[in-house]
Amino acid sequence: MADAATKADDYKVQAARPAIDLVKPGMKLGLGTGSTAYHFVEAVGELVRNGLEVLCVPTSEATRSHAEKLRIPLSSLDETPQLDLTVDGADEIDDQLRLIKGGGGALLREKIVATASDRMVVIADESKMSETLGSHPLPVEVVRFGLRATTRLIQALAAEAGCEGEVRLRPGQGDLPFITDQGNLIVDCAFHTIPEPEVLAFALKRVPGVVEHGLFLGLADVAIVAGSGGVQVIR
Ligand code: 5RP
Repeated sequence: MADAATKADDYKVQAARPAIDLVKPGMKLGLGTGSTAYHFVEAVGELVRNGLEVLCVPTSEATRSHAEKLRIPLSSLDETPQLDLTVDGADEIDDQLRLIKGGGGALLREKIVATASDRMVVIADESKMSETLGSHPLPVEVVRFGLRATTRLIQALAAEAGCEGEVRLRPGQGDLPFITDQGNLIVDCAFHTIPEPEVLAFALKRVPGVVEHGLFLGLADVAIVAGSGGVQVIR
């Protein structure tokens, strides 16, 4: 088990490495969230230590504090509304570069930052590749008000696929709900298969309590995927 985890982490490092070659002096960068994006942030930190000038917008408070420790110059989207490149991980990727994101709960800021970027590059280990999206539960960020009513509406969508949505809990903290950086909740929807992500994305956006969902459609330009066969670049 430890070996599998180490191997997966090696692949994450290998996927992050080529992404760092895309970083050029003076660039404005979006920094992703999660254990794969972590390695990219580390590499940006090293470049900054070696004198590279970049300005970065983090996609979560976790990434912000990581970047601060590395003394990476940070900005906000209010100060820097257009970015050159965002590098982020994903929970699932299909061959059209449609993604499920939000496993770490940062999907809202991640989507805003990716949309504000000229290019989004996804870095991942091979376990994230999927023929049809949906094997990873789809995170949906919802406001607290009307939670049960909103969850019922989301579940009604999910029920068509024979599954349920569950409010995400804080790991190891009993029944306490997970709270996003924006102060919202996450409903994880186990659809198992999402044959038409665009249709589902549209339906979810029509539910009033839904702030955002983890389907990233038409946002990723490139995926760098590392695995037993080496590093693959998918465009
Ligand atoms: C966080 C995300 C992450 O990018 C996604 O969960 C992948 O994380 P990891 O690289 O740790 O597998 O969307 O909201």
